[in-house]
Amino acid sequence: MTSSARQIPFRYYVGCSLVALTRLLRRVLDQIRRVVALPEQLALIIWTPREIARSSKANWDSCSYVRGYARLDQWLDAREFALVERYFSKSGSVLNLACGAGREVLLLGRRGMSVIACDWSPGMIAEARRRAEDAKLPARFAVADLMQDLPYAENAFDYLYLSGYGYLFPRWRRVRFLRQAYLVLKPGGVFIIAFPPAREDPGIPAGPSEWLFMRLRRWAPFNRAYEPGDRCVGGTLVHYFRSAELAGEFQEAEFLVKEWLWDEGYAVLVKL
Ligand SMILES: C[S@@+](CC[C@H](N)C(=O)[O-])C[C@H]1O[C@@H](n2cnc3c(N)ncnc32)[C@H](O)[C@@H]1O
Repeated sequence: MTSSARQIPFRYYVGCSLVALTRLLRRVLDQIRRVVALPEQLALIIWTPREIARSSKANWDSCSYVRGYARLDQWLDAREFALVERYFSKSGSVLNLACGAGREVLLLGRRGMSVIACDWSPGMIAEARRRAEDAKLPARFAVADLMQDLPYAENAFDYLYLSGYGYLFPRWRRVRFLRQAYLVLKPGGVFIIAFPPAREDPGIPAGPSEWLFMRLRRWAPFNRAYEPGDRCVGGTLVHYFRSAELAGEFQEAEFLVKEWLWDEGYAVLVKL
């Protein structure tokens, strides 16, 4: 034994064991978390799309969600801020889709932009309206479901902003929404859109539940609209995208992709 090895005190090895134990416990906890999340995934193959929408909407409209989002008053990240600074002029008109309790309305309004906003949750809209009034910002609001008809005229906006494309489902409804978004945007207008990329979860889109659900969906009464990448997160549907899938949806709605930030989950679309 060398003299340096002899000098390592016993407490050093005790510390190493504690570090190793924590690593082990973390791995076990990760596995437990995965198993605990499984039952709610089953809801997506049992519910109809209408029932999934009802559960998601009830979640977003609940007091705890509305109160939580009403506390937000900052850019979520530097990327979001940088994109708005680069692509939105300070004087244009912007439609903030799925605006929640008004975080983006306040941020865009304070830049001097004329903001119109919508969300399908009446609770979120009431909170967003109250916050805009408190801040003396002349924003206008509507309760509207992005998976239904949008209540806006053609060529009405210079810009569109949506940070929750992953909440829309299934694919045909997302494309229908994008086509409507294209119509309400002025030619040359810019659409900043955020989405959850599939790489965030290694189990998406090829987890074992995906394999099972894609087989079950062939038979009634299972949800035929289930798609690879659909996940249930606390009763809310979130669709995680593969890049080719998302590019196909943008293309079908005739948007040109001006900037593609796949890792950060943002795209900048333009109407030619
Ligand atoms: C994560 S919150 C984000 C709120 C806001 N954009 C922000 O970043 O602070 C998602 C919002 O999307 C809304 N939402 C989800 N699906 C929607 C739909 N189909 N139509 C309209 N709004 C929807 C929810 O009600 C909720 O307010």
